[in-house]
Amino acid sequence: MPECEIVANSLVVAGAKVISEQVVAIIGYGNQGRAHALNLRESGVKVVVGGRSGSTSRTRAEADGFRTADSPQVAVHADLVIVSLPDEVHGTLCPPLLEAMKPSGVIGFLHGFSIHFGQVVVPEDRGVVLVAPKGPGTALRARFVEGMGIPCLFAVHQGGTDPDRTEALALGWAHGIGSARAGVIRTTFRDETETDLFGEQIVLCGGLSELIRNAFEVLVEAGYDPLLAYTECCHEVKQIADLICDRGISGMGRAISNTARFGAMDAGQRIIDDSARIRMREVLADIQSGQFAKRVSEDARDGSRRLGEYMAKTEAHPLEDAGRSLRTMLPWLNSVGKSDEIR
Ligand SMILES: NC(=O)c1ccc[n+]([C@@H]2O[C@H](COP(=O)([O-])OP(=O)(O)OC[C@H]3O[C@@H](n4cnc5c(N)ncnc54)[C@H](OP(=O)(O)O)[C@@H]3O)[C@@H](O)[C@H]2O)c1
Repeated sequence: MPECEIVANSLVVAGAKVISEQVVAIIGYGNQGRAHALNLRESGVKVVVGGRSGSTSRTRAEADGFRTADSPQVAVHADLVIVSLPDEVHGTLCPPLLEAMKPSGVIGFLHGFSIHFGQVVVPEDRGVVLVAPKGPGTALRARFVEGMGIPCLFAVHQGGTDPDRTEALALGWAHGIGSARAGVIRTTFRDETETDLFGEQIVLCGGLSELIRNAFEVLVEAGYDPLLAYTECCHEVKQIADLICDRGISGMGRAISNTARFGAMDAGQRIIDDSARIRMREVLADIQSGQFAKRVSEDARDGSRRLGEYMAKTEAHPLEDAGRSLRTMLPWLNSVGKSDEIR
């Protein structure tokens, strides 16, 4: 069984010294790109930002004080080029970057998807690394500003002509975004990609959203008020998730009432039963075989039609209205998201 290891702090600190003397190009200034660029700059790293001309995110990078240029152009002099673009466009946008980069330049990814599924192929003499923060860009930035960090996964796909420098640059990158304050975990591109996709599909984004929506619908169909249904099945998720995150599932179980604990025991395994586990294995096999990656890429080529339909349906669901009503009572909820410094 493959094993992860927490990278020793001495290695991360040595990487920080290496990257402090180098130029880092961040390609794309979206959810992750902005947080990486700001955190690295505040850690003393020289950062330039690449984007397409006329792009709103590129304008935002300039407003944040970064020098920007067209992507292949910023890649020319960079020692580390961080690809912070949506995964489905890597196959088209990485080849010109790789062509523009100097021979010693290392290319870095935030998710192993395009490398692992062969959508981007890098010549063997170039270093290819991964630093994948385990959270959205908003959290990466917010924790950094607070003096903390979120853990990240780190991997070297290939060391290129100087494997020690390649690894040091990646570890310096992990240090610069604040993740070393939490933990840098060494893994592989394959394991990062497949577990990340599985986790977001089965639990974090797919499974959780459907669990919430279906439970909401069942309560509303049974005549309960949507606001009540939303509060019980969606709003309280965060409190429970925070407890699980801080204390584990057993720790969460100790923090809730006997009735809630008994209900969890009694109903939980009826909802997520053996048949659900069979479907989870099917989803894992779909990811491992590359079929999921193929469908994402096909939809991207089709103008993200299926994704657009899914988002339109999600936005039109009555649960969203109930959520908006509840949030008017809790104006402080979005304060992190509204902060220009963090968002
Ligand atoms: N989001 C997360 O929570 C998260 C967490 C961990 C890892 N990751 C990984 O981080 C990477 C970036 O994800 P993200 O969510 O940060 O991406 P994102 O916010 O969707 O990226 C937007 C950036 O990409 C640019 N862009 C989009 N399409 C483009 C195109 N066709 N040509 C040129 N530029 C284009 C946008 O420029 P314009 O302004 O010009 O559109 C913008 O600068 C991915 O590999 C993802 O898997 C994401």
